[in-house]
Amino acid sequence: MANKRIPVIAGNWKMNKVRDEALQFIYSVNQEVPSKELVETVICASDVLLRCLVKRQGDELRIGAQNVHYEEFGAFTGETSPRVLETTGVTYVIIGHSERREMFNETDETVNKKLHTALKYHLTPIVCVGESLSIREAGTTNDYVRSQVVNAYKGVSAKNALLTIVAYEPIWAIGTGKTATPEQAEDTILSIRNVLAELYGNDVSERIRILYGGSVNTSNIEVLIAKPNIDGALVGGASLDPASFLALVTAAVRK
Ligand code: 13P
Repeated sequence: MANKRIPVIAGNWKMNKVRDEALQFIYSVNQEVPSKELVETVICASDVLLRCLVKRQGDELRIGAQNVHYEEFGAFTGETSPRVLETTGVTYVIIGHSERREMFNETDETVNKKLHTALKYHLTPIVCVGESLSIREAGTTNDYVRSQVVNAYKGVSAKNALLTIVAYEPIWAIGTGKTATPEQAEDTILSIRNVLAELYGNDVSERIRILYGGSVNTSNIEVLIAKPNIDGALVGGASLDPASFLALVTAAVRK
């Protein structure tokens, strides 16, 4: 079956860039971003920057948040409601990033709740999964990631699953300069697609975009994206510089 999945390049700026730097970035990439029919291009920034980025985003660029609370409102000091994100105009949200799982006690259960909330508020969820180095070395990566996927998608219908994006980010590859080999990334991403096929059938699983993340840069994007099941990348460090980010987006167009 021909691969009809539109690739996605999503920059995760994490806790970087102040307003002026963020705007400078947006102004320098806006005109260069290819059509969203060729590649979906997303920048996920700190909450405080979202509104000003949405107001200035070019036609082909999309803005996303890096987290959302699963409740709609209430006494959750310091958290951001999905209603606020929706009215801010962002259209994507990262859910369950390993930094949030490791440092802010997010669990498979909260990831599942956040996935339901994001869908309800028309935010495209980028659901992150990925193993630690010890799990990789123990040879149990596919089982571990499988359980993260099954738990994240509990109660999510096939129709809604189609609206989601998965990002496979091995923890040992994040910010370390140590990328998974294209074969390792493809193997685990294929295993994720197989889990989605068990949950939703082949037709649905073949249409869900699955990204790789972890030390993606302009030197390794081509070999990663060349793999049949890798539909793009979730990028930290290499998304901070406009030229580097645009080079990643351009590489994805050639997929
Ligand atoms: P790096 O690309 O900096 O390794 O970060 C990956 C990541 O965590 C994206 O969400």
